Order: sequence, then C-alpha cells, then structure tokens
Amino acid sequence: MTKRLELTPRLRQLADWVPQGAAFADVGTDHAYLPVWLVLQGRVRSCIACDLRPMPLRRARETGRLYGVSGIQFRLCDGLGGIRPEEADTVAIAGMGGENIAAILSRAPWTADGAHTLLLQPQSRAEVLRRFLSEHGYAIRREALVRERGRLYPVMEAVAGEMPLTPGQCCGGAKLLNDPLADQYLIETILRLQGAVAGLNRASDPESRKRADSLRDILTELLFMREEWRHGDRPAN
Ligand SMILES: C[S@@+](CC[C@H](N)C(=O)[O-])C[C@H]1O[C@@H](n2cnc3c(N)ncnc32)[C@H](O)[C@@H]1O
Repeated sequence: MTKRLELTPRLRQLADWVPQGAAFADVGTDHAYLPVWLVLQGRVRSCIACDLRPMPLRRARETGRLYGVSGIQFRLCDGLGGIRPEEADTVAIAGMGGENIAAILSRAPWTADGAHTLLLQPQSRAEVLRRFLSEHGYAIRREALVRERGRLYPVMEAVAGEMPLTPGQCCGGAKLLNDPLADQYLIETILRLQGAVAGLNRASDPESRKRADSLRDILTELLFMREEWRHGDRPAN
C-alpha cells in the first residue's frame, strides 16, 4: 500500500492556492513534498521540481518513488534558470530567505509578464521580498499567515501588477488586514524592530543613527497599522 502524504500547515497553505490544472513548478523543492502531494491529488497537469543542489534533488526523487508518483520532472538548476516561461503558469518558491527569493525573481523577469502566478513563502526578511515585488512590477494578490512549530510564516500570492507599498507595509504585510494572526505578526515585527533600534542606538556613527531614525519611522507606522487592523472587520484570534 502507498504511504499517505500529509503536508505541514505552511506547505498546505501553498498547495491550497495552486489552481486546479496548473502547470506547476517548485523552485528549491528539497524533499518535493509539495509537488508530490499536488500530483497525488490530481491538482496539476504538469509538474517540475527543481533545486540548486544534487542532494536535495536526490531526496526529491526519493519522495516521488516512496509515494509512487511519476510524471514529475526533476531538474538541477539555479532558481528559474532551468525552466522556460511557457513550461509553468504557477511557480512556488518557498522555505528560503526573502532576499534569495527576490534574487531568483530578478533573474527571471518573465515572471512579471502577466501569465504567471507566484506562490512565495519567505522564511526570513519578508520585508525585502515585499519591497522587491512592489518595485519590480508585481502585486501581492493575497497574503496569509501560517503558524508552524510555534513560528509565524507569511505566504504570498503575487502576479504582475502595480502595488506601491510604504516601508511599514513592507515590514508588516501588504494584505493581512483580515488575517486572524495579523495582530501577533505585527507585535512580533514591532518587537524585532525595537530590538534593532536599541542595538543601533548604542552605536555613534552617523550611518547607524540614520538607520535608527528610519526604523523608528517604520515603528510609528506599524503601531498605527496595528490600531487600524485591530478595529478592522476581522475574526478574533
Ligand atoms: C529549506 S529548503 C525548502 C524546501 C521546500 N521548498 C519547503 O518550503 O519546505 C530550501 C531549498 O532551496 C534550495 N535553494 C536555495 N537557493 C536556491 C536557488 N537559487 N535555486 C534553487 N534552489 C535553491 C536549497 O538547496 C534547499 O533545498
């Protein structure tokens, strides 16, 4: 009997946003749990799983074998470098830093051509990714927070479009107003930035002072956003 594959909440959120019949690509697939689950569910019409390094790709193939899945194309490549634009309409890039995801997208500008949906889940530095998207012709269509092993993770769906974001929105989330975990996320972001300001306050060079000033401005905006969101039409935590 074939084993049953259960996705963790983070990967399940991504999977839920993959449209039925998608031509799907998973960048940085590692164990390939997401592509294998999608194929097992009959959700996708084609599937590419790629990774930068041979070992994760070996694990990915092993997961495919374990769950009796065929039809996934496994590729060793850097970012989207091994995928042609017409091979995928839905691209997931999950479980890596926001800077790395932004760098991968910047090397594949075709992802902002209007024919592609991006499912992005930064592990850290989500603000770098949101800022990149807003400055490079993408719009975040929806965003959700997922709690996994005690940590909050933002998951974003981005498409081609215009989406000017303030520094506070880059840090606190662009489309999280109705998310039940938004308040917790804002509190954690505020605490992290307060820690950074405290560190910068100990330095005396002008560059650190300038950075501390700009973080303080962001903190003011986040506190304002928190008030706004708390009074928004949102289910209780
Ligand atoms: C922590 S795993 C995430 C696995 C899975 N996507 C998830 O969210 O659970 C990150 C994977 O991304 C891969 N990776 C990092 N940079 C990459 C790049 N530029 N191109 C392709 N894969 C990359 C790593 O080799 C690693 O296997």
